[in-house]
Amino acid sequence: MSWLNLDGKTAVVTGGALGIGRAICDGFAECGAHVVVADVNFEGATQTVTELTSRFGGEHRAVNANVTSRQSVDDMIATAVDAFGRLDVLVNNAGINIPRLLMDPAGKEELTEDIWDKVVAVNQKGLFLCAQAAARQMVSSGAGGVIINVASESGMEGSEGQSVYAGTKAAAYTLTRSWAKELGRHGVRVVGVAPGILEATGLRSPEYERALAYTRGITVEQLRAGYEKVSIPLGRSGRLSEVADTVCFLASERAGYIHGTTVNISGGKTRV
Ligand SMILES: NC(=O)c1ccc[n+]([C@@H]2O[C@H](COP(=O)([O-])OP(=O)(O)OC[C@H]3O[C@@H](n4cnc5c(N)ncnc54)[C@H](O)[C@@H]3O)[C@@H](O)[C@H]2O)c1
Repeated sequence: MSWLNLDGKTAVVTGGALGIGRAICDGFAECGAHVVVADVNFEGATQTVTELTSRFGGEHRAVNANVTSRQSVDDMIATAVDAFGRLDVLVNNAGINIPRLLMDPAGKEELTEDIWDKVVAVNQKGLFLCAQAAARQMVSSGAGGVIINVASESGMEGSEGQSVYAGTKAAAYTLTRSWAKELGRHGVRVVGVAPGILEATGLRSPEYERALAYTRGITVEQLRAGYEKVSIPLGRSGRLSEVADTVCFLASERAGYIHGTTVNISGGKTRV
């Protein structure tokens, strides 16, 4: 039994096929948990399960899940319970980011209703649907559980060219606090993590970098150079594994009194 004692627990990780979610899946599998890798990228989720099994052993499942659809989310939770008989942890990690300006004098890259709705659907409504389905299961089983929401330091700081993204991440902080107040009495802990600047993931796609550089009036090369130059007191980007380690700790009994708060993982960059 490891110090975190996650052996035999069941953890559902949304957006688990790539990036931070993938690192979190690795973390749970390494701790002996059953991992349910839930992603719209089903091929990636299946590949992740194959790799988890060969690296860490244990039993894991891939689920073709879209966090914006109630039916899909309900199926995701049902699959976890059917496969492993329990649900102990939900990590609400799936997220998207489409940089746009609120107002673009050149009229090229303005926030549209369509983009607003897309980002809010995944980052905010997705959190609600997944947390609700998980909470129902955790409370009705009588065993409780842990819900972990992935926010972002931009949710506190705001972010030029990424207002809708930052807005949804600010919501993650208050949803975490509110659900903690509602679910604590049922034995469900609700916590968040807020990563800052990390090593690159799929989120930092060529289209994302092009649009973000445009909104800031700089070139993609300058944007890339800026990732390194921003003032991070620890002097480096964060590792995906450092987010995963924090999530595994928060999911464990070792963090049994941490509730309703969002842990900043930004190397000291964010002021709050
Ligand atoms: N990368 C960073 O620097 C950073 C910083 C702070 C916060 N975050 C947050 O961390 C989370 C993961 O980001 P990432 O950088 O690993 O992104 P990523 O693009 O590398 O991975 C996101 C995963 O989510 C999946 N996904 C997207 N929409 C989905 C949907 N509707 N249903 C199910 N799955 C869906 C994608 O297929 C992908 O596998 C996001 O919530 C993001 O906002 C990232």
